[in-house]
Amino acid sequence: STGMPVDRLGRRLTDLRVSVTDRCNFRCVYCMPREVFGRDYAFLPRDELLTFEEIVRVVKAGIRLGVRKVRLTGGEPLLRKGIEELIAMLAALRTASGEPLDLALTTNGSALAFKAQSLRDAGLNRVTVSVDSLDDATFRRMNDVNFPLAKVLHGLRVAHDVGLGPIKVNMVVKRGQNDDDIVAMAERFRGSGCVLRFIEFMDVGTTNGWRLDDVVPSREIIERISAVHPIEPLAPTAPGETAARWRYVDGAGEIGVISSVTQPFCAGCNRARLSTEGRLYTCLFADDGTDLRTLLRSGVADDDLASAMSGVWTRRDDRYSQLRSSLTPGIREHRKKIEMSYIGG
Ligand code: GTP
Ligand code: 5AD
Ligand code: SF4
Ligand code: SF4
Repeated sequence: STGMPVDRLGRRLTDLRVSVTDRCNFRCVYCMPREVFGRDYAFLPRDELLTFEEIVRVVKAGIRLGVRKVRLTGGEPLLRKGIEELIAMLAALRTASGEPLDLALTTNGSALAFKAQSLRDAGLNRVTVSVDSLDDATFRRMNDVNFPLAKVLHGLRVAHDVGLGPIKVNMVVKRGQNDDDIVAMAERFRGSGCVLRFIEFMDVGTTNGWRLDDVVPSREIIERISAVHPIEPLAPTAPGETAARWRYVDGAGEIGVISSVTQPFCAGCNRARLSTEGRLYTCLFADDGTDLRTLLRSGVADDDLASAMSGVWTRRDDRYSQLRSSLTPGIREHRKKIEMSYIGG
């Protein structure tokens, strides 16, 4: 039997992030810059993608190892045909202690207005929606496909109304691009029931032209907001959480800051990622993953799949964000890394 594996740094596996497509209808400047992901970019052909049955087998094996939370990502997960079917299959699973999974999905919100109800009906618990600005021109510039902000805000509203909550809103902050919108974003989502999280621009992949100068440290974000609306820190709800939580002193809800660059949270990292084509990665910044698809397609038994995954977790010692600052820029820039749209946010 496999039991619940512990990695080399004493961390357990509780979250599995599943990328269901490497495609996206946006070309966010920090994720899929259009100079790279252009008209003739080769996305994965259909038969390379894990089928829903294959994804469910991996999730079931993950559950035996301790997984309780599954997040569907991409690319844009709502572009995957029949995604509701996969959600229904995952919603039927039970964790080791007999509970349903915490089943979440990260989306750019572009299709949320017409998908929210069917996602809810299929058994999705909650969504996280990316909104980088409340200024339509900035929003369109950052998604780089001229997608209107109003459509995403409408999608958010519909998701909220059908009960896909508590909804989280993600804002990736890039200096000189949308950092002027920090306070406006805070004000828009204060008291809305949505939890807004500010994400430091990260050096994921090798194509987004990351520079340290473009990162707005979370400390600065907190200062800018607290100058207008007093906030105080909250204790973490779970160890290894990505976001540090803060609450408005006047009771208007909470915000989060995800400080992968300035305050790394690798120490409690309990996350594994399953790529669109079935490779298992133990870090967002990994240079390589373990091919599970070949195993799946060669008729592996459930026990053997679980022990293969357990072995990967047991050997894991990833803590890239903690090491980042000690890498010299030259080495950092030449390190091979996987793109976020492929490995899943
Ligand atoms: P909750 O389940 O709501 O706590 O979600 P989450 O914070 O795990 O999920 P979400 O997809 O919203 O993650 C927010 C952002 O945090 C991601 O888009 C990434 O930018 C970043 N992030 C998530 N996991 C990791 C991680 O393991 N390492 C690093 N460096 N960043 C991460
Ligand atoms: N740095 C920080 N966050 C990023 N995301 C995508 N690329 C980056 C990056 N380079 C975010 C998206 C979305 C989540 C899945 O990941 O905005 O909210
Ligand atoms: Fe698409 Fe999300 Fe990447 Fe933007 S951040 S390009 S919406 S996958
Ligand atoms: Fe986990 Fe890697 Fe992110 Fe650190 S950098 S929190 S080890 S995924």
